[in-house]
Amino acid sequence: MVVSGNKEIDGLPMTNLVRITKDNDVAVITIDNPPVNALGPGVPEGIWKAIDETNGDPAIKAAVVIGSGRTFVAGADIKEFGKMTSGASPRRSLLPLLLQIENSGKPVVMAIHGNAFGGGLELAMAGHYRIASPTAQVGQPEVKLGIIPGAGGTQRLPRLVGVAKAVEMCAEGKPVSALEAATLGLIDRLIEGDLLTEAVAFAREIADKPARKTRERTENLGTAAENAVIFASARDVAGKKQRGMKAPLAAIDAVEAATKLSFEQGCEAEAKLFTECLFSDQSKALIHVFFGEREVAKIPDVPKETPVIPVNRVAVVGSGTMGGGIAMVFANAGIPVLLKDVDAAALELGMGKIRKNYASSVQRGRFTQEFVDERLRLITPVNNYDAFSGVDMVVEAIFEGMALKKSVFAELDRSCRQGAILASNTSTLNIDEIAGTTSRPEAVIGTHFFSPANVMRLLEIVRGKKSSKEVIATCMQLSKKLGKIGVLVGNCRGFVGNRMFGPYRREAQFLVEEGADVETVDQALVEFGNAMGPLATGDLAGLDVGWRIRKEYRHLEKPGVRQPFAEDRLCELGRYGQKTLKGWYRYDENRRASADPEVTALVRQWSADAGIPQRQISAAEMVDRCVFALVNEGARILEEGYALRAVDIDIIYLNGYGFPAYRGGPMWYADAVGLQKVYQRICEFNQQHGELWAPAPLLQRLAETGKTFVEFDKEQVVAA
Ligand code: 3HC
Repeated sequence: MVVSGNKEIDGLPMTNLVRITKDNDVAVITIDNPPVNALGPGVPEGIWKAIDETNGDPAIKAAVVIGSGRTFVAGADIKEFGKMTSGASPRRSLLPLLLQIENSGKPVVMAIHGNAFGGGLELAMAGHYRIASPTAQVGQPEVKLGIIPGAGGTQRLPRLVGVAKAVEMCAEGKPVSALEAATLGLIDRLIEGDLLTEAVAFAREIADKPARKTRERTENLGTAAENAVIFASARDVAGKKQRGMKAPLAAIDAVEAATKLSFEQGCEAEAKLFTECLFSDQSKALIHVFFGEREVAKIPDVPKETPVIPVNRVAVVGSGTMGGGIAMVFANAGIPVLLKDVDAAALELGMGKIRKNYASSVQRGRFTQEFVDERLRLITPVNNYDAFSGVDMVVEAIFEGMALKKSVFAELDRSCRQGAILASNTSTLNIDEIAGTTSRPEAVIGTHFFSPANVMRLLEIVRGKKSSKEVIATCMQLSKKLGKIGVLVGNCRGFVGNRMFGPYRREAQFLVEEGADVETVDQALVEFGNAMGPLATGDLAGLDVGWRIRKEYRHLEKPGVRQPFAEDRLCELGRYGQKTLKGWYRYDENRRASADPEVTALVRQWSADAGIPQRQISAAEMVDRCVFALVNEGARILEEGYALRAVDIDIIYLNGYGFPAYRGGPMWYADAVGLQKVYQRICEFNQQHGELWAPAPLLQRLAETGKTFVEFDKEQVVAA
């Protein structure tokens, strides 16, 4: 940020991270700690000194605090959290600073652009006024890191926006726009023009008026009766929407303290809850996820500077559930899409589903009708390839069959311009074989979306042997624009996610074949934190999908190795899951599941015929069998190089398979349990159940050398 015409206050000791300049009678305090002005070491100290100087200079009437670069302040420095011991925490330096700002004899105006998140919003709330660019966002996202606001956020926020909104913001962690913040009373003025110029003018305007301290504004704190209803409902929502997470409940407790205690006592209550959360396993796992989500974007041999191909127009081939969802993803990002199918009838069906999907988003308040109308205008149905020469990228999303895919790619090769990206949404097929049917295998790549494509965040980007670096870099960058988390994976059967999902669901079936009830197995995994149980997931996706694939690959199964049979037999009986209203469960016409005694009786009979001994199985064994199956396969994938890092596997599982984020992903969870323990348990399963449980060599090596997957990842970075 250029502060023209200002001169520095003479003799002021400055840190490099915080600058103070003077615009006549207004001090401008600029935080300059790229990339996001986190309140890392040196920043609070710099602000402290600058506020002191402001108060000590008789020529200054007011101060403006502003962020340099792309944002105001994105919060405390999360990197520091890992280094903390129970005696130290970021709030120790922040709380006194915020009091010092609030007590300043000269009013302090916080000028916000970009984000004021976490400690950034707490800093802003300690000022006497807040003004913001209309595009700014503010929020207390700490719960997403397994912690709560720790620098008075749970105490000052309800004083500004009222108890109900403060509870929602602190417990759910969702940001609000500057526009909404202005209506809530969190922002005093929206600034359309140059933020700094307007902030200085605003500071001058309010300089001589009495300035209120946020902590003294108690008029929004509600009555005990009103608040009791708000807190009860917030706890109920947190129990459902953030099942298993501790931080949202702690955040609610802390806001409740604001309504019952003095500001100082409320801060003490917040401090206690903050510290408990900060040193919890959940917080460690969620911080791993925060950095992991950013780490997956880094590909050792595809540097940041790799040129990318502009993607301004795309085409999607196939207007079924996946194709339609993918078209919506592009349209939602403002990218025009051609949606191709064989004829008008297929297209009408596909467009009908898209319209229905959008209509339900409008009904749920996710999108406005205007937004949806604009998006629908971006999707053009076509029944031929004539206009494909004008697109920068095609995503093929037709039926999962190699012959059909090959014919589509041969057609794309003829129709698309050189330089266009040819992507396949295949979830199982070999990308190199598909690429081989074109004259430009370097342009071919896998973009594996997860169903429903317009909702699920994961995008597995499958690197073929010849996929060019430009094509990879473009898809990685594009995933962010599409609101997805792109993770680069190698070309093996099932890629990373589905390859691991096979053994996971295999074990769930084995458990039922060994005597467990279907609902008990699912319940154990749901209690572990998974969004759904493995058997119910099969019913949702369609049991016939796996059945058909297994039939195709049966010749690859090693004779004498135990294979599950129950699901195949259910399919033989026409029980495909939700779509036939019968699968592992029975479904009513609204697809509500109930246990089916017929399934229990059938599986008991089949197991007896196969001579499988029946026994009582504990929930802990159910979790170990299913989750360690993921870990063991994950370790193989890692060693074979189909995933770049263990954290990539974690991010895939959290965003595509409903694994609980507060457990950090399967590989992080294994580290947390201890790899020696995991390895030992896998050896036991190997003895009991045979070859399918052979421990992955990498897991064995790490366990024997006392290492973790996190350490393995660090060694990979060094080696690269
Ligand atoms: N601390 C340390 N590093 C941070 C950070 C933070 N608070 N926020 C972002 N970063 C880093 C990222 O790790 C990334 O580093 P990299 O380039 O080495 O990978 C870099 O800054 C850029 O971040 P993004 O790639 O995420 O950039 P975007 O522009 O996409 O997003 C953002 C910017 C919206 C600010 C996003 O980074 C974000 O949500 N940050 C976290 C905000 C947050 O959770 N704040 C609360 C912190 S806890 C706290 O304040 C406790 C307090 O109550 C005491």
